[in-house]
Amino acid sequence: MKRTPATFHVKSFGCQMNVYDGERMAELMTAEGMRAAEGAEDADLVILNTCHIREKATEKVYSDVGRLLKREDGTKPMIAIAGCVAQAEGEEIARRAKVDVVVGPQAYHRLPELVRTAGEGRLAVDTDMPAESKFSVLPARRKVAPSAFLTVQEGCDKFCTYCVVPYTRGAEVSRPFAAIVDEAKALVDAGAKEITLLGQNVNAWAGEDDGGRAVGLDGLIRVLDGIEGLARIRYTTSHPNDMSDGLIAAHGDVEKLMPFLHLPVQAGNDRILKAMNRSHSRDSYLRLLDRVRAVRPDIALSGDFIVGFPGESEAEFADTLTLIDAVGYAQAFSFKYSARPGTPAATMDGQVPAEVMDERLQRLQSAIARDQSAFNARSIGQRCDVLIERKGRRPGQMLGKSPWLQSVHIECDAAVGDMVTVDIVDSGPLSLAAVLVR
Ligand code: 5AD
Ligand code: SF4
Repeated sequence: MKRTPATFHVKSFGCQMNVYDGERMAELMTAEGMRAAEGAEDADLVILNTCHIREKATEKVYSDVGRLLKREDGTKPMIAIAGCVAQAEGEEIARRAKVDVVVGPQAYHRLPELVRTAGEGRLAVDTDMPAESKFSVLPARRKVAPSAFLTVQEGCDKFCTYCVVPYTRGAEVSRPFAAIVDEAKALVDAGAKEITLLGQNVNAWAGEDDGGRAVGLDGLIRVLDGIEGLARIRYTTSHPNDMSDGLIAAHGDVEKLMPFLHLPVQAGNDRILKAMNRSHSRDSYLRLLDRVRAVRPDIALSGDFIVGFPGESEAEFADTLTLIDAVGYAQAFSFKYSARPGTPAATMDGQVPAEVMDERLQRLQSAIARDQSAFNARSIGQRCDVLIERKGRRPGQMLGKSPWLQSVHIECDAAVGDMVTVDIVDSGPLSLAAVLVR
């Protein structure tokens, strides 16, 4: 007998775009009449919104499915695999795990239909990249957190040699200007004070404004700046080669654009950058940051790093450390190289042994931690605004973000969604403490 799930749970892995997609899947299932379950343990339908970027992330999916099929109470949920593993592995997934639905990142608006046709051992698969946009059929945004995500661009045409994104998310596509502005307004109406524009190459976004004029991300940001009730604008992730003059200028004169830039460099050595097909050099990256700092001296810089790319020598890795010294990041993400099937780097000579990668990652992370602590310490004595996002762990403590994306703890009776002014009084490796001014 076929059963229709009454409750659902979405679990997202990986990047912020998956978080955004997961929210929209939840809205979609709610619009279908399903209820959100407390958690994966008691849902009739579990949607695993997966990440394929590194092997470890991919393996998590299979261990999660295993766990879901061994519930203590003996019930078995319907399982849908969404996201980039679904796109990359398609039907193959069913060979390794008992799942009911496989749906790619460009087809998840069809989830309700897939859930209807699946079940009782039948597999429903949709990994199309359809011409019609999922955004045009997804239900409108209703209730959102004070800090909301908004996807404006998807996909990547850069083909860095280690990366699966161009294969899982497809070619670079920009959402239309008007659709983005409408969604931003809907988010603000639904309670958002801060919007983070998302894209795999968000700064490659291109469109036409209401007057038919070509605009880039900076033009879009300037229009969003005019939305009443919206206090903060952020964007991520950017590619160095798409950092236009206009976008750099926006950091100097758009008040709502927060002083934070996540600009991955991946490595500090030109031979490695070339082998990665990054199409920028160490110097061009550093010069770019100089230009951003010239218009916005307090900007917090963030990056992504890969250690142990095939062929990386000790001296080449040391160039990444000196680049970190030169930049002084406010935060950064770092990863051990993970060979991904189908990417050019996976078959390159000189794969670096795991223990060498471990050791390099440790050194890199301690350099970043040192700079992050120093950046946080320099915030002491500053007065700034904080957007309250949630309650802290201690009673009476609230947690929010500074303009520079630092987590700030404040003892106060402000509510979630309030924008408060604080004085920063203390700093730690990962957060700040502040007292309320008003
Ligand atoms: N191995 C390790 N890290 C990777 N990234 C992308 N592909 C890989 C890979 N194969 C990292 C990059 C990218 C971030 C999202 O993930 O640093 O910027
Ligand atoms: Fe991957 Fe490079 Fe595209 Fe980033 S720019 S998504 S690392 S291919």
